[in-house]
Amino acid sequence: MKRRRFLGNLVTASALAGASSVYGGQCIKVPASGAGPMKPLNKPFLENDLTRVYPNGPEAVGQKMTLSGQVVNEDCEPYSGAEVVIWQACVNGIYNHPNEARKGWRDPNFRYEGRYMTGDNGAYIFHTILPGSYPVPARADAERGLVAFRAPHVHFTVTIPGQEPFTSQMFFDLFELTNRFDLVLYKKTEKQCALLTARVEEPENQSLPMRAHFDIVI
Ligand SMILES: [Fe+2]
Repeated sequence: MKRRRFLGNLVTASALAGASSVYGGQCIKVPASGAGPMKPLNKPFLENDLTRVYPNGPEAVGQKMTLSGQVVNEDCEPYSGAEVVIWQACVNGIYNHPNEARKGWRDPNFRYEGRYMTGDNGAYIFHTILPGSYPVPARADAERGLVAFRAPHVHFTVTIPGQEPFTSQMFFDLFELTNRFDLVLYKKTEKQCALLTARVEEPENQSLPMRAHFDIVI
């Protein structure tokens, strides 16, 4: 494991402070995770604002969140030209996807997926909302004897030219207790959980977006 730290190409100092995958000062690969059934069927528009569907249209419901970080390798060197695709549930934990079987209210003003291309510094940024949690159909996890559910999370796939796409999902440290019971996270080690968890700075008031930092080490 390489010990080189982020020395150049930093977006801001806060990007380092929030580096979720810099574990003990090292850039450690994010554990992969399956895309699940809600992966976009088509490549999303090159759009990083998920908080509304149309320019100047009505805003999605929910706590606004700025989600940002860097796509880097294990030497902490940034990947420019990396394609970052995200998809997530709305505030009510419902996806906008043909495979979504749950019948709850679905926010018509939320853009459920986005895409961003990193620049020279490997940085990405999305403007979105904090996703809701949701129950998982009974197929999951009888061994625990619990109703399976998903803690709030954002799925992502990163494609670097010449490499296989990398897929995983990120969680949020403000749900520390909830995360322990998540269907994906409960099977992970403490270290793996840490590598999959974004660090969140809550805003001074709820009209401002919270800021989540998650560096994607591939
Ligand atoms: Fe999900």
